[in-house]
Amino acid sequence: MPGIVIVGAQWGDEGKGKATDQIGEQVDYTVRYSGGNNAGHTLVVNGQTYALHLLPSGILNPNCIPVIGNGVVVDLDVLFEEIEGLEARGVESASRLLVSANAHIIAPYHQVIDRVTERFLGNRKIGTTGRGIGPAYSDKINRLGLRIQDLLDPSILEQKVVAALEQKNYLLVKVYNRAAIRPSEVTEHLLSFADRIKPMIADTARVLNDALDENKVVLFEGAQAHHLDVDHGTYPYVTSSNPIAAGACIGAGVGPTRIDRTIGIAKAYTTRVGEGPFPTELLDADGEKLRVAGREFGTTTGRPRRCGWFDALVVEQAVKVNAFTDIFLTKLDILTGWEQIPVCVAYEVNGVRIERQPMTQSDFHHAKPIYEYLPGWTEDISSARRFEDFPRNTQAYVRRLEELISVRISGIGVGPDREEVVMLHDLI
Ligand code: GDP
Ligand code: IMO
Ligand code: MG
Repeated sequence: MPGIVIVGAQWGDEGKGKATDQIGEQVDYTVRYSGGNNAGHTLVVNGQTYALHLLPSGILNPNCIPVIGNGVVVDLDVLFEEIEGLEARGVESASRLLVSANAHIIAPYHQVIDRVTERFLGNRKIGTTGRGIGPAYSDKINRLGLRIQDLLDPSILEQKVVAALEQKNYLLVKVYNRAAIRPSEVTEHLLSFADRIKPMIADTARVLNDALDENKVVLFEGAQAHHLDVDHGTYPYVTSSNPIAAGACIGAGVGPTRIDRTIGIAKAYTTRVGEGPFPTELLDADGEKLRVAGREFGTTTGRPRRCGWFDALVVEQAVKVNAFTDIFLTKLDILTGWEQIPVCVAYEVNGVRIERQPMTQSDFHHAKPIYEYLPGWTEDISSARRFEDFPRNTQAYVRRLEELISVRISGIGVGPDREEVVMLHDLI
């Protein structure tokens, strides 16, 4: 069972970091395959909290080789800040880390463009994390990107930065009324990381395929989520990459037959950061109650997350497109204390009941949730370690979600700590 992908089944922040860490000890390689430091994955180990943005969660396990795949966009400042932050806490990380030679670099001008574009869009903004993710991926697709391997050759890097800035400076000065950015400043800054990153640069696709040939366990750690996928998400309110399970093949360089298991991570309710449709969103006191109970504030930007009930149509769509073999349900403990818990089982769109995610974005925007009301529970469930420890209504809630999304729930989070989990089936 060597190739396993973990993917967010909603709009991000489902608890992918914790789920990755759950199986960390049995894993030989953990690979980030998409996104960049727009992600924020939280792990709580022995009461210590770690928030990782760019490094794969496997970095905390000394026997696991962390890999940044070709599909990731790398902010070098963040990479080394994160490495130093971990080392200051006694987590040795740099010597094991491998970074794909083909991964793209987020240059300082990508962040500037991300922020000015959002400001320019006004109330049509996406609500990005402002980390330069979209502009870095745009340059990749436009063939104007900088890659990690360019750090090995200063003259190539310089030429590429000059070429990239020709257009961008025009845009910054003429359209956005900003100062031009000097290519030499960017090149010097990026090259200041060259000596430190050189030993980490590798043909990671080759490394991972060789590892899989040797039956090593490789865990592909998704960032963002199905509904933030640029192809399958709520476009244009998405990120600029492919977080879905198939994205692991592209973003790490392994064939589809290498993937043996795809695990969807779903919160027991729903949250979203940034703009875009969210049919079960609660804009009232109930939403605030969920936000406070679940501490729903972004790991990356600190923004309050939008909160709402579990939407079975949203998760079921992700189950289908990612072919999830299992679901890891997180934050079930946060639902303690409600008399009844609404679960969205259908939408009403233009007066018609539908039981699948609508085909068009416009219908998604107009979808009104139709709820089924499940009885709640008042008992604290955070000390449960077996399914049988749950109150009857908690068990019934889990079983009903399983029916609605047509896939088995194999693990359940009952608290942020590594230990706070109920396992129903092995994930490896
Ligand atoms: P990710 O981006 O998918 O890794 O998720 P985040 O780390 O951004 O957000 C999930 C938050 O929920 C973090 O603060 C986790 O520590 C926390 N968390 C994860 N699983 C559980 C759980 O089962 N119960 C509770 N109460 N918190 C959890
Ligand atoms: P993790 O991995 C939640 C959202 C942003 C915005 C949209 C586009 O922690 O689950 P971007 O900066 O990527 O161009 O922003 O995507 N977004 C996330 N929301 N969790 C994330 O990552 C996210 N990464 C991006 O809020 O709506
Ligand atoms: Mg997060």
